[in-house]
Amino acid sequence: MQQTREVWGSKLGFILAAAGSAIGLGNIWKFPYITGENGGASFVLVYLICIAVIGLPVLIAEILIGRTTQRNPVGAFYKLSHSKFWAAVGGMGVVAGFLILSFYAIIAGWSIGYIVEAINGNFFRWPEPVAAADHFNSLVTDLPWIFGYFAFFMVLTMIIVFSGVQKGIERASKIMMPILFILLIILMIRGLTLDGAAKGLDFLWNPDWSKITAGTVLLALGHAFFTLSLGMGAMLTYGSYMSEKDSIPGAALQIVILDTLIALIAGTAIFTSVFAVGLDPNAGPGLIFHTLPGVFTKMPGGYFFSILFFIALTIAALTSSISLLEVVVAYFVDELNWKRHNAAIILSAIIFSLGVPSVLSFNVLADFKIFGLDFFGLVDFLASNILLPLGGLFIAVFVAWVWGFDKVIPNLRKGAEKFIDHHPIMSGAWKIFLKYLSPVLIFLVFLYSIGILQDIFNLF
Ligand code: TRP
Repeated sequence: MQQTREVWGSKLGFILAAAGSAIGLGNIWKFPYITGENGGASFVLVYLICIAVIGLPVLIAEILIGRTTQRNPVGAFYKLSHSKFWAAVGGMGVVAGFLILSFYAIIAGWSIGYIVEAINGNFFRWPEPVAAADHFNSLVTDLPWIFGYFAFFMVLTMIIVFSGVQKGIERASKIMMPILFILLIILMIRGLTLDGAAKGLDFLWNPDWSKITAGTVLLALGHAFFTLSLGMGAMLTYGSYMSEKDSIPGAALQIVILDTLIALIAGTAIFTSVFAVGLDPNAGPGLIFHTLPGVFTKMPGGYFFSILFFIALTIAALTSSISLLEVVVAYFVDELNWKRHNAAIILSAIIFSLGVPSVLSFNVLADFKIFGLDFFGLVDFLASNILLPLGGLFIAVFVAWVWGFDKVIPNLRKGAEKFIDHHPIMSGAWKIFLKYLSPVLIFLVFLYSIGILQDIFNLF
């Protein structure tokens, strides 16, 4: 028997849940460090253009597929196309959900561990970046520490998804998202009021155009994709619980604005602080776990702010991880008729097991490399650089070329009648972006991220 499908309790609930999916480690951990490595303001500008030109159109497309079909990615593509090929594209999204969550939850686990480090005042014992990095290494090689927090984070994710769409995901998002906004605004104000904050602002807001290359543009584009949780059906799945009374373009715009705002607020908080204490913004992936703990030790109230920061990072990660688990759970519930409770428990356990080799790649298996990547790097590469861009490409191609705008537009109009009828230029632009620009640009990102275009660029 088909179980009745759940729906969001309100439009706000959907927007907060979807913004929660979008706002994650990508905004607070990755955006600041790639901005730091790629020239600050000029990178931010390129990124904003990518969000508007590719991110928003593809986000609308994904939510629309979900809302129209009220299915998980596999069922959704199948329902609209009756083709096994397109169902497999949806299946790729489900696989990506398994893979991404298996490593995402490890980093999120560190974030919980760092709340405890902050509370214990451990940052004050290793304030210099080199010593802080050593301390970080001693933690990730401590198996009970790294496994324990990974498992703890998976359990938190599981409990929320287990509790359902309204009672779990929506309620958790409505509680956690406002807390996240407040914490990040407090951290930004702290950063802005430090002596020397101006240097950080200058870095974030004054463009250095010499840093912008074709590679930077593709990096910005790839990040625009990741930060909006596109390309694997997360937004499709969330859209499948959405009412036809609500406007998709309107909701998508709000999600994009919230996501961008949070990235900029997090960037401002981090760069004003890093520059104020005279450290290097160019620290790469270690920026958050190596540099930042020491930054807190050098600012007034740093003990308190360091705790708030890692709480914020954990909340951001949790509202994203539930969307990853929900994709996988929705597939097993819709297609295989599993009970949500069983699906949440069993699939979380499978994802945890899948993460074991990735955890070990930080310690026991550190020297085990395939194609020069450790296991964690390999899973990240496969999911982020191959499955997500391919998924995004297929979504744009599917909506524009397979499903066809004559069927797409009437569905998009539902809940957005006034907007679509009064702004023909907007829907016209959406069609053109989705039909031509998105597939071409996403394909270039794909070639770049698997290294083909990088080699070509290096010739110049
Ligand atoms: N958008 C999240 C972030 O910025 C990560 C994320 C959550 C994600 N769900 C996703 C990325 C689905 C791709 C696909 O951290």
